[in-house]
Amino acid sequence: MAIISNCTASIIKDAALALKQGHLVAFPTETVYGLGADATNEKSVARIYEVKGRPTDHPLIVHISSINNLDKWAKDIPEYAIKLARAFWPGPMTLVLKRTDLAKDFITGGQDSVAIRVPSNTLANQLLREFESLGGYGVAAPSANRFGKVSPTNSQAVEEELGNFLLENEQILDGGQSQIGIESTIIDCTTNSPSILRPGYVTKEMIQALLGKKVLEPDFHKLQIKAPGSSESHYSPIAQVVINGFANSGDGFIALSEIPTPSGAVRLASPRNKLEYANVLYRALRLADSKGIKTVHVIPPVKQGIGVAINNRLTKASKNLRI
Ligand code: TXA
Ligand code: MG
Repeated sequence: MAIISNCTASIIKDAALALKQGHLVAFPTETVYGLGADATNEKSVARIYEVKGRPTDHPLIVHISSINNLDKWAKDIPEYAIKLARAFWPGPMTLVLKRTDLAKDFITGGQDSVAIRVPSNTLANQLLREFESLGGYGVAAPSANRFGKVSPTNSQAVEEELGNFLLENEQILDGGQSQIGIESTIIDCTTNSPSILRPGYVTKEMIQALLGKKVLEPDFHKLQIKAPGSSESHYSPIAQVVINGFANSGDGFIALSEIPTPSGAVRLASPRNKLEYANVLYRALRLADSKGIKTVHVIPPVKQGIGVAINNRLTKASKNLRI
């Protein structure tokens, strides 16, 4: 396993070839880092599950370079989904659509739908284009962390998570810090109206403004199988996360910069706004673990815009009973 920095065009070409030959490649996206494999290669996809320690009925997102390749993977695509794709792709949004025969059970967890995303990160997009130019159809890429853990937002975090599990011919492409820092918004487009399965940078308000129709609130209980990310205690560091509690001396503390640090607490991040909050959150939780901090107190931002997604991830992290 190697971390490859300064990813030139030829390095990206080699990485695409490695993917095509069946090897895993971890790569940056604008949301979080992904652990990539050829989405049509059953053995390579099985390797993703092995490296992540993830149950095999949890479906994966297929990444493609452009909306033009969408109909290879998805059929009966509703008009509103096309509108969403045209507005927010490339970008931090995943659409769940009816699958074609290309999307096998080993990608969808046996469901009739498939999750598709066109990332905007230039390295990711170049990698996908090279992969497709070699005859590839799409790259399955879950977040590059062990199952249930915090998603990595830089290449060092990928190494911390998966370094012990990756083989020599499996590489990590370094593309710096992920711009957004939390996972994509997942939108279920298999019904007459869209519903959000996982909140993210693309918000309910943005979707409603675009489509001029109401977006359904997710029913997280029904969604346990549809989107495992929607099950509780998912995005968890080793430290216990406490929301709006009272921080004792030595505890970690994360809040907007305008909120002062309680005396004796260890400030882990001081984001100036919600976007910065999303960007630093996972790094701050990792920092807590690396400092051996046992309890992290967080004051979440208001549940507005990307604040909804931040609150969603923090609530899950706080319910962790230590996996
Ligand atoms: O931002 C992201 O989406 C990142 C980057 C790497 O693209 N990927 C990511 O993948 O977060 P992962 O595997 O950690 O989360 C994918 C989520 C899971 O909760 C999964 O259940 C859901 O997508 N999903 C995949 N296919 C689905 C389907 N057919 N129906 C419903 N949910 C699905
Ligand atoms: Mg994940």
